[in-house]
Amino acid sequence: MRILIINGPNINMLGIREPDIYGKNTYKDLCNLITDYAAEKNVEIKLFQSNHEGSIVDEIQQGYGEFDGIVINPAAYTHTSVAILDALKSVGIPAVEVHISDVTKREDFRQISYAGMAFKKSFIGLGFDGYLRAIDYLMNK
Ligand code: DQA
Repeated sequence: MRILIINGPNINMLGIREPDIYGKNTYKDLCNLITDYAAEKNVEIKLFQSNHEGSIVDEIQQGYGEFDGIVINPAAYTHTSVAILDALKSVGIPAVEVHISDVTKREDFRQISYAGMAFKKSFIGLGFDGYLRAIDYLMNK
């Protein structure tokens, strides 16, 4: 099984950005956690992070025929990006949404998830564990 793990803007700033919301662990810590878990579960993964909407769209498109599942935290683009929604629908790869924080309890503008319309499942507010639960979900699907 091959899973593409995509993180959107400012996820590279984990550990520095708003630690009261996102915790003190870094993006590198997140990558290590996911890499170790995937190895344990015999899942092949590619980790990708970008602060640019178009680069995320390119990465999703390039995943066509290459991956069996996508785990994506589109970060702020969750709430704005029809392009990411369309890219996910275009490739038709089963996709799971992850948010580190509990967006359901945050500002009104975070209650809209455009990308969410393409998702099979969401893991919200579970911290880094959400990524592992998303891998489990795709493996058991
Ligand atoms: C986030 C929540 C988004 O609203 C925010 O813009 C992010 C991170 C999360 O993981 O909790 O950058 O996706």
